[in-house]
Amino acid sequence: MIDLYEGILTTRAIRRYTDEPVTVEEIRKCLRAAQQAPSGGNSQPWQYLVITDPDVKRKVAEIYRRSYRRWETAQLASLPEFRTDADREAFMRSLRSSRYLAEHLDEAAALVAFLVPDVDLAPSDADGRVDIGPIYASVYPAVQNFCLAARALGIGTVLTTVYWSEMDQLRRVLDVPERYVIAALVPMGRPRGAFGVAPRRPAETVTHWNRFGNREP
Ligand SMILES: Cc1cc2nc3c(=O)[nH]c(=O)nc-3n(C[C@H](O)[C@H](O)[C@H](O)COP(=O)(O)O)c2cc1C
Repeated sequence: MIDLYEGILTTRAIRRYTDEPVTVEEIRKCLRAAQQAPSGGNSQPWQYLVITDPDVKRKVAEIYRRSYRRWETAQLASLPEFRTDADREAFMRSLRSSRYLAEHLDEAAALVAFLVPDVDLAPSDADGRVDIGPIYASVYPAVQNFCLAARALGIGTVLTTVYWSEMDQLRRVLDVPERYVIAALVPMGRPRGAFGVAPRRPAETVTHWNRFGNREP
């Protein structure tokens, strides 16, 4: 097993997979790690739907591709201003990688859907609803735990949500009841490339101490 900190730093979006299998045992190990994630009031609101059947994967891939193409067309038509050419190139590289995944999603060894009920867990008092934040805050830690555990096993993953515009279709193909939202779809497989530390802006540039705007600890 790799060191936890190194595992965190080298967990990044992996979208190209070899055709080596991922075993049910390995998937269960990742789910076990996901299960250990924190959630509001320990509500553990998520369920998993693991897709390994090639026919189901193909159907999901078709829906994913459709939503991806729509997103890409819209996104390319309204690109943000890039500060530098390097920023633009980094964005385009990420887009090409995302496009590759959209064209090859069914090649992932497994697709894992994270389901959350579309409910409001906030209680009410005499003054009304006592907001505790969105339910999604209680599922993405589980998704990240899953991805980190996969990394520990040498398995690549990427959190995706681009299918959201086709949520109804996706639910239908997977027999997911309407009360659930598919909060993430995580393809997994043995990476074709190597794991590595992805570029990010330095933490200091986005850190404030004690008061917003104060950069010194
Ligand atoms: C909320 C969220 C949604 C994402 N949706 C998608 C997606 O639909 N398709 C995709 O290919 N990548 C998706 N990603 C992956 C991001 O593009 C990726 O994490 C980011 O570009 C950083 O990649 P890196 O760690 O390899 O640098 C998503 C990531 C997050 C956190």
